[in-house]
Amino acid sequence: MDLVTKHKWDNAAASFDFMNSYGPEKRWGPVKREFFSAMHGKILFLAVGTGLDIPFFPPNQDIVGIDISAKMLERAKARVDRYPGTIELHEMDVHDLPFPDASFDQVFTSCTFCSVPNPVKGLETLRRVLKPGGELRMFEHTGSRYFPFNVLLNVMNNVSKRLGPEVNRDTVSNVQRAGFRVRQVNHVFLDVVKTIVAEAPQH
Ligand SMILES: C[S@@+](CC[C@H](N)C(=O)[O-])C[C@H]1O[C@@H](n2cnc3c(N)ncnc32)[C@H](O)[C@@H]1O
Repeated sequence: MDLVTKHKWDNAAASFDFMNSYGPEKRWGPVKREFFSAMHGKILFLAVGTGLDIPFFPPNQDIVGIDISAKMLERAKARVDRYPGTIELHEMDVHDLPFPDASFDQVFTSCTFCSVPNPVKGLETLRRVLKPGGELRMFEHTGSRYFPFNVLLNVMNNVSKRLGPEVNRDTVSNVQRAGFRVRQVNHVFLDVVKTIVAEAPQH
């Protein structure tokens, strides 16, 4: 387990809801509800955080939720208890998942691959635990191709990466580099907030 990342997010847990649950969740809530409505089969959800995404999940799903931070997961428990379906929580690092190959039909992520230290390795691990032809569905913020947003995000990144996320990553390219076939990219806000749907290759 990557203890530096774990401690970074353990330290962020107490203020996470205060910083995120009002503006961002209100803004992206309807998009997330639509995005999560595609859930089916055995699902791996990375990373649960304090569980802010859970109210937008469709009912009656069978979900394994993981996060590297025990402190974030502790705060997610009340939201898990209110969910009308199954969510099993585990403290795990995406770079090193103990699940057997081909365990899941779908993997969902939400604002996660800005934070995972080695994104291509993490994505390769997700590909391993997905069934061949299984889906990776991501709601993520990334860097931008367009001026002045690209410059702004590069400057902001110098500060944000010390506190948590890196705000200038090229997550679509990382998904391709990890061996997925990208099926769809939808821009939600500029080319910064986006949903990505990708498929694990058939062996
Ligand atoms: C920006 S928060 C997003 C949480 C939640 N999805 C949301 O949108 O409210 C990023 C989350 O990724 C988790 N994380 C970071 N690196 C991780 C890793 N290597 N493995 C598993 N979880 C990780 C952090 O602990 C944190 O909860």
